[in-house]
Formats: sequence, structure tokens, C-alpha cells
Amino acid sequence: MKIAVIGCGYVGLVTAACLADFGHTVTGVDHDSSKIALLKQGTSPIYEKDLTPLIRVNTQRRRLFFQTSLDHGVDDAEVVFIAVGTPALDNGAADTAQVMTVAAELAKYIKDYKVIVNKSTVPIGAAKQVRKVIRDHLEAEVEFDVVSNPEFLREGRAVKDFQEPDRVVIGTDSPRAQKVMSRVYAALIKKGIPYIQTNLETAETVKYASNAFLATKIAFINEMANLCETVGADIRTVARSMGLDHRIGLQFLNAGPGYGGSCFPKDTKALAQIGRASGVPLTIVETVITANEEQKARMVRKIKGMVGALQGKTLGILGLAFKPDTDDLRESPALTIIDNLLAAGAIIRVYDPQAMAEAKKIFKETLVYCTDPYNTAEGAEALVIITDWEAFKSLDFIRLRKVMASPVLIDLRNLYTPAEVEQYGFKYENVGRAGYGDRNLPDLHKSG
Ligand code: UDX
Repeated sequence: MKIAVIGCGYVGLVTAACLADFGHTVTGVDHDSSKIALLKQGTSPIYEKDLTPLIRVNTQRRRLFFQTSLDHGVDDAEVVFIAVGTPALDNGAADTAQVMTVAAELAKYIKDYKVIVNKSTVPIGAAKQVRKVIRDHLEAEVEFDVVSNPEFLREGRAVKDFQEPDRVVIGTDSPRAQKVMSRVYAALIKKGIPYIQTNLETAETVKYASNAFLATKIAFINEMANLCETVGADIRTVARSMGLDHRIGLQFLNAGPGYGGSCFPKDTKALAQIGRASGVPLTIVETVITANEEQKARMVRKIKGMVGALQGKTLGILGLAFKPDTDDLRESPALTIIDNLLAAGAIIRVYDPQAMAEAKKIFKETLVYCTDPYNTAEGAEALVIITDWEAFKSLDFIRLRKVMASPVLIDLRNLYTPAEVEQYGFKYENVGRAGYGDRNLPDLHKSG
């Protein structure tokens, strides 16, 4: 099939490359000419595992093309994906301005029946608005349909998530468009991937509900971790024992400094806003947002609890990205934590395997940028792990102790066990494993 993908950002590029790999002829369109120039040379403007080889091989096979203008690519295409940004507005709602602009522009190129697929995360009801905008801008009476096809791609695993998804969701009111979409995803349907056909609003809601549920799982386990610290329980054992119940599942039960990234914070806020605007208060989602903010604040209090007054004290921070294997700092808990530590007068030394360049853009000369964990630890009163990078899972504690001002490890991702760290003379703090740090454990048995 001939397909156009408008927007060569993270989602658009993965979609274009994977659809070409399914055997379709795909044109990726983006108005950013420097991006298109890179892509034409076979270079991906973003770092995403497995993406560059996929772009190269499909470009060589002449199944993947890139261009800056909508013509040709769009007028030849049977299916046009819209995958442009929907940043958050001040009230948390997703801003659909770019989606609507693209819809108006592409209407000019609809000369015969086309299916317009929205991949961008948009407020529920936006697909119908896309339909209206296109209809208003058509130059002739032509038939077209609009489909909502939400993406569930995780950064760092996006190619695999596209090629082996847990499910594909296709929302449209048109049986004709459903037929076209089942040809687009024939490769996945053949593999037996669950393929859900539904209406527009349902597909749009699935995206928000899925992300909000996952965010809830994280906020819930973080809250349980906080309780564990007080009652004398171990969150890792609680989480594992809970997760072995198949109805709960083991994934997304790692307690930590709070969720970040380009999706969960934005999508939970947008969903809460949709609830408010619809007169249906989504109290759980609202609470998850507050709980996640409070978790970051709690991490700052934890650090202050271990180190005391921070004025003039040196702290080492390991990990800035919102999760490992990315340089993405968007909504990373590290940003809030560092802002608060700086405000309290601490001198911050930082290291992240990928995100240093991004961090320099944000923090400029307010931080000391280091080359590895040991350099970061030099002269530090405490070392704080914020991102669960593989490289931080096997630190040499003897070496760290030698360079630190005092041996204190604050492990906000529970990468270590207390015994492992304490045997090297370290004071150790974590998230949700009681009895460490400076807390007083209540004796629950006495009150009984
Ligand atoms: C997420 C969704 O997983 C994906 O389906 C959606 O399309 C986009 O948002 P992503 O933002 O790439 O993907 O990251 P993910 O791996 O889901 O992690 C999100 C955040 O939650 C990270 O900050 C991570 O550290 C945190 N997290 C995740 C936890 O704190 N604990 C967990 O157990 C899991």
C-alpha cells in the first residue's frame, strides 16, 4: 500500500520505518528540512534502538522516502497518518493546533478516497474535529474517512513495540476504513496480534486510560513503599508477592522517585482535564498526579534527612534521564529533585551515561558535570542514584568510599540491598525498605 506519515518525530518516524518494513511504500513528511536532509542520508535525527538500520534498509529497498512537502507523498497515498506533536496547554489539555493545521493542509491533496489516521495523542473527540477541518478545506467533493489508531510505544523499545505490540486498536465509524486498516496491519493480524476494531471515541479513550492506569500502578506502589518505610516492611518483597498474582502482574511495580517522561505526566494531566471538562471528575487520576509530585518532594526530604542542612554541601547525582537507555530529560524526577537541592544551597555533581548534553542545556553552569560515577562521588557527602541505568548496578564501593567526603548512598531505584552496601561501611537509604536511615520504627506488636 502507499502510505504517507506526516510528522517525523519520535512516533512518526518509528511508524514510517516499521510500516515500510511490513512491505508498504511509505513517505515520511516533515517541514523541518534539516531533519529530512539527515533522513535522506539514512541518519535518524533521534536515538532509538534498532531504528537507524530499519530506516537504512527500507530506504535502500526503495520502500521508504522522506520529503518536506505534502504533495506527491500525500496525493498518491491511500492512507495518511498524522503523527505531529500535541504539547500540553497551561490547563494540562493536549494542544491539537498542529494536528488541525496538518488536517487543513492535507485536505488540498485529497483527490480520491483516503483514510486519514490520527496517531497523535489528542483529546477525546478530536478525530471528529479532524474530519470537520478536512471537510471544510476539501477543494472538491471527495470521500475520505478518519481513523484513530493510538500508539503505545515505549522509548528505547519503540521499534519492537510497533512490530510486536500487545494489541492494535483501530477506531472509526466507517466499515470501509476498517477494511483499509486491516490491510495496513495485515502483517500483525497474520501473527495473531489482538486487533481491536471500535469507534473513534473508544480508541481515543484507550490511549489515555492505558497510560493513566500504568501511572496509577507506579503511584500506588510508591505509596505502598512509603508505608513500608514506616511499618517495617520491604517494598520489593511486597511488590513481587503482589505481582505474582496474575491479575496484578509483575510489571510497573518498581518503587522509585516518581514517573516522568513525555507521556505519563502529560497524558494523566490531559485526562484529568478531559474529566473536568466533561463534568466527570476523575478523582483517581487527579490523585495520581498529586501523589507523583509528592513522591519527588519526599525524595528531596529523604536526601535532607540523610545529609542534614544542604547549604554548601557537595552531593553526587547518578542518573538524570527519566529512565535508562535514553537521553530524554522530559519531566524527569531528577529535574525537580536537583532544582530543590540547588535551592537549598547544595553543590551538585552529576553524571548520566547519555543525558549530559541535554542536562547542560537546562542547568548550564549551575551543576558540575562529571565523567563517571567515581568522578561524581569526589568530595561528596552523599551519592544519590536517580535513574536505574545498568551501569549503576555494579558500583565499586571500595573505590567510592575512598573519594567521598562521607560514605552515604541514597538509592532511589532500589538497585542494591542494604546488606550489600552496608558491608562497605556505607550509610544506606532507599525507597520502601524500612529500618534504614534515621527513622523511628513504631513497634506494631506492642500496640496489639
Ligand atoms: C510510556 C508507556 O509505557 C508507553 O506505552 C506510552 O506509549 C508512552 O509512555 P515511556 O514514557 O517511554 O512509555 O516509559 P516507561 O518505560 O513506561 O516509563 C515511564 C516512567 O515510569 C519512567 O520515569 C520510569 O522510571 C517510571 N517507572 C516505570 C517507575 O517508576 N516504576 C516502574 O515500575 C515502571
